[in-house]
Amino acid sequence: MFQLNNKTALVTGGGSGIGKAVALTFGQQGATVHVLDVNQDKAGQTVEEITNAGGKAFVSTCDVTKQEEVVQEFRRIGKLDILVNSAGVSHIGKADSTSEQDFDRIYQVNVKGVYNCLFAAIPLMKENGGGAILNLGSIAANLGLSDRFAYSMSKGAVQSMTLSVAKDYLHDNIRCNSISPARVHTPFVDGFLAKNYPGQEADMFQKLSKTQPIGRMAKPDEIAKLVLYLCSDEASFITGNDYPIDGGFVKLNG
Ligand SMILES: NC(=O)c1ccc[n+]([C@@H]2O[C@H](COP(=O)([O-])OP(=O)(O)OC[C@H]3O[C@@H](n4cnc5c(N)ncnc54)[C@H](O)[C@@H]3O)[C@@H](O)[C@H]2O)c1
Repeated sequence: MFQLNNKTALVTGGGSGIGKAVALTFGQQGATVHVLDVNQDKAGQTVEEITNAGGKAFVSTCDVTKQEEVVQEFRRIGKLDILVNSAGVSHIGKADSTSEQDFDRIYQVNVKGVYNCLFAAIPLMKENGGGAILNLGSIAANLGLSDRFAYSMSKGAVQSMTLSVAKDYLHDNIRCNSISPARVHTPFVDGFLAKNYPGQEADMFQKLSKTQPIGRMAKPDEIAKLVLYLCSDEASFITGNDYPIDGGFVKLNG
């Protein structure tokens, strides 16, 4: 089950966190993995880990906000069966404390970056007879979270883009889903704590861990397992859906 032999996968943000765990899992399951990241060193590290474990992987250095760069990179790769959009950035703020510059930055990476990769990937998948797309949403799109104005906006857009793509390419054999994790312990969370709560990182880490009723944050590997399922042929009847993976955050916090 869940073998990806003969499949070519591209994982954006594959140099760190969830994207890295997904790339490693795909490599273990037999896919040829293109690890796309703006950070070449981190992408290289992921590729090294995959190849050391006997898998097949390549570095793809690219900034997802730049459409021409993305299109060229995807064309160079040529064949694509699976796309995982994991590259993303975070931000803390309310509507009146989010600067225009920060709003634009979140939009550029989390919304336009996903659009750019869809724009580049879909023609390749159509040529190839189909494919599977998985977008990283967030529970921030499903309920009112404090101080996440721009970030929540971006993840709402990810869920809407997922539905549009799932509908528009139904008959091209392209499936498109999203997942919505609660907090996952990755450098994304550590960086966010260091930036926004300097000196209180450990306290805030405990506090954020407890907001999941299960009592902790997810491990990237736990997220990668759901991504693997949704991108595998075993999930062939699943499209146009969002899957919470949240330790009970949305439904058990009452
Ligand atoms: N960690 C969490 O708690 C959590 C929860 C819900 C959703 N998510 C989502 O999951 C995704 C991955 O998060 P993570 O925790 O693994 O983050 P991370 O910071 O560990 O990794 C993100 C990767 O994306 C890359 N990246 C950033 N901007 C890029 C760009 N313009 N072009 C190419 N690559 C770029 C970074 O270099 C980094 O390697 C994000 O979309 C995030 O919003 C994370």
